[in-house]
Amino acid sequence: MIYFDHNATTPIDDRVLDALLPFLTTFYGNPSSLYRHGRMARSAIDAAREQVAALVGVHSSQVIFTSGGTEANNLALATLAPHARLAISAIEHPSITEPALRLKNQGHELAFINVDANGCITEDAINKIIKGKPALVSIMLANNETGVIQDLAPHARQLRANGIIVHSDAVQALGKISISFNTLGVQLMSLSSHKIYGPKGCGALVFEKGVEIKPLFWGGGQEQELRAGTENVAAIVGFGKAAELAQAELAERSKRLLALRKLLEDGLTTIPGLTIFAQQTNRLPNTVQFGMPKIDGEMLLMKLDQKGIAVSSGSACASGGSIPSPVLLAMGIAPDFAKSAIRISLGPTNTPTEILEFIKLLKVLVCQA
Ligand SMILES: Cc1ncc(COP(=O)(O)O)c(C=O)c1O
Repeated sequence: MIYFDHNATTPIDDRVLDALLPFLTTFYGNPSSLYRHGRMARSAIDAAREQVAALVGVHSSQVIFTSGGTEANNLALATLAPHARLAISAIEHPSITEPALRLKNQGHELAFINVDANGCITEDAINKIIKGKPALVSIMLANNETGVIQDLAPHARQLRANGIIVHSDAVQALGKISISFNTLGVQLMSLSSHKIYGPKGCGALVFEKGVEIKPLFWGGGQEQELRAGTENVAAIVGFGKAAELAQAELAERSKRLLALRKLLEDGLTTIPGLTIFAQQTNRLPNTVQFGMPKIDGEMLLMKLDQKGIAVSSGSACASGGSIPSPVLLAMGIAPDFAKSAIRISLGPTNTPTEILEFIKLLKVLVCQA
């Protein structure tokens, strides 16, 4: 199989697996137990917390481990005070959009921050949103579909100057670009392990001291009483190792991915009528999303799957057909064209030969369509 869907999930790195396996077998102690076995699990969690904290440049006490990016995003939005207003960008992942809509149903005012045709949030859009006096704003650092990276630091500065708490979903950016929590100037940030070659079911919410986190679960007082439940020790250890490797290898990975992305884009642009979305915008080095006239993205995905190539389409299945990507619609792309979208998200094991094979096949499939 040619795997081109690393923004959906990544294969676990062998070195991560080696690091976490002993915590499923030999060192199975409960980190809250006081005897040696428990203390070993506790210190492994502490070490992982340092590794994750280092990847975004914070103190380890600012990291709360969660069950993934989805929980971290939900936990971030739960900090909203009763009746306070919320604003989110129009291109957020469903793990922000859905809890935000629930908060709206519970009586919170919800506003959406528009993006321009390149998927970017402008200063004007921020100024407009500030006028609505939200208490919390959530803006993702990099988009999972287009790969567009927001110029978040100036926006965060402006929002904070107006007393607004800023959260960023950095799940897709983590491990692909260098992230400094403090330089970005946000107060809350969501991370996920399985997008950086770590295990699934593990993530973190990074928070600035002083921001009041309201736990979603109560129980054993784990994670500074902010996330109760016996820790998923092996997954946390794996996340820590994956974070350490991402930090050490970031520059090398990025260089390699950019070269592959260029090869891919050079090939794609030889296909008549094909548009690479937000091509001239600052994007993740591994992500390319494109559309083609008169093509059904879901159908194309299936045909590629039959040939052993895993990609993602921009649209979502729904009863009665497919729904075009809200991200592309927010960028002003026509619904029919948005439905043709295919996303390629590359990873370190992809090769130039795989890219060339894909381009060749795509040309054949497009001609047949
Ligand atoms: C931007 C973004 N945020 C959040 C998530 C959810 O993360 P998790 O799968 O760890 O719950 C994803 C996963 O696809 C994502 O792409």
